[in-house]
Amino acid sequence: MNTFPDLRLSRLRRTAGIRAMFDLEIPAPAKWCWPTFVVPGKGIKEEIASMPGQYRYSPDTLVSAVEKVVQQGVGSVLLFGQTDGVKDNGGSQAWHDHGAVQQAVRLLKSAFPHLTVMTDVCLCAYTDHGHCAPLRPDGSLDNDAACECLAKVALSHAAAGADVVAPSAMMDGQIAAIRAALTENDFNQTLLMAYSTKFASACYGPFRDAEDSAPQLRPGMPADRKGYQASYANPRNALMESVLDEAEGADILMVKPALFYLDMVRAVREQTLLPVAAYNVSGEYSMLIATARQGWGDLDELVRESTMGIVRAGADLIISYWASEYERFFGKR
Ligand code: PBG
Ligand code: ZN
Repeated sequence: MNTFPDLRLSRLRRTAGIRAMFDLEIPAPAKWCWPTFVVPGKGIKEEIASMPGQYRYSPDTLVSAVEKVVQQGVGSVLLFGQTDGVKDNGGSQAWHDHGAVQQAVRLLKSAFPHLTVMTDVCLCAYTDHGHCAPLRPDGSLDNDAACECLAKVALSHAAAGADVVAPSAMMDGQIAAIRAALTENDFNQTLLMAYSTKFASACYGPFRDAEDSAPQLRPGMPADRKGYQASYANPRNALMESVLDEAEGADILMVKPALFYLDMVRAVREQTLLPVAAYNVSGEYSMLIATARQGWGDLDELVRESTMGIVRAGADLIISYWASEYERFFGKR
């Protein structure tokens, strides 16, 4: 074998042109999904304090924001809703036919027929305690009642025209319940993207601030989601969550967060033939901005380098707040 001084690997890296010949590419914007926030009302665009550059939109202003994202070629959006109605134990405002999400889906599908519109299916922004399921009188989580509620939410999104419904509550049996409800109601073309391997993570803080959906302390229930979201110290259990969601009828699996869990992205990619999404979450977004603002790193470089990590891990779809600035970070396509 040829070795130094004949072999010099740096020859393959010397110029930008040579590097570009052999480097992996950042996926085209069609392989990206922009998560964003919808609130009831009109004319609203308010910046989220903990997520600079990301906003809460009312359905009307969301259309012009999405237009800028569609113009960059981004293939899909993922909508998170809120209510101005009364939050209750079961989160019933979540399946209101004229909720902010349901309205936004209708508007986006008529304005951008080729855009893939995804919706987050959960209850935590609609329950008065901020948990992703109703609580029983003793404070315990009512998993099976949650599945019925989540099926109603998914149906209301499908009826509004969502292409993809994405349940994120981490309830046992939620995928089977939603798939059955979709089938029974003739929504046999609605895709089901399971937040399948979703961890109880400290990286959701900015999102909960944006959504006003932090879990609250109740007698019999702690102020966290560790009892239902996967444990970061038990990768086998977390992987099995994806195995089961596939068996229950998911079309797309997901690992969330992405950057702290690249091993799990790779593990899920290797054990399924379904597409795998990686969700680069709010905390991962805001920590890069915070670093750059401190002067401790260059934001563009940090975004490109961390995104390539997600690509190397094997993600098929990248769900990321950076999608709204695709051209700035990754160039024009
Ligand atoms: C709701 C939900 C959360 C996120 C997506 N859907 C928060 C949570 O589970 O508490 C987090 C997304 C992000 O941090 O960007 N269940
Ligand atoms: Zn939730």
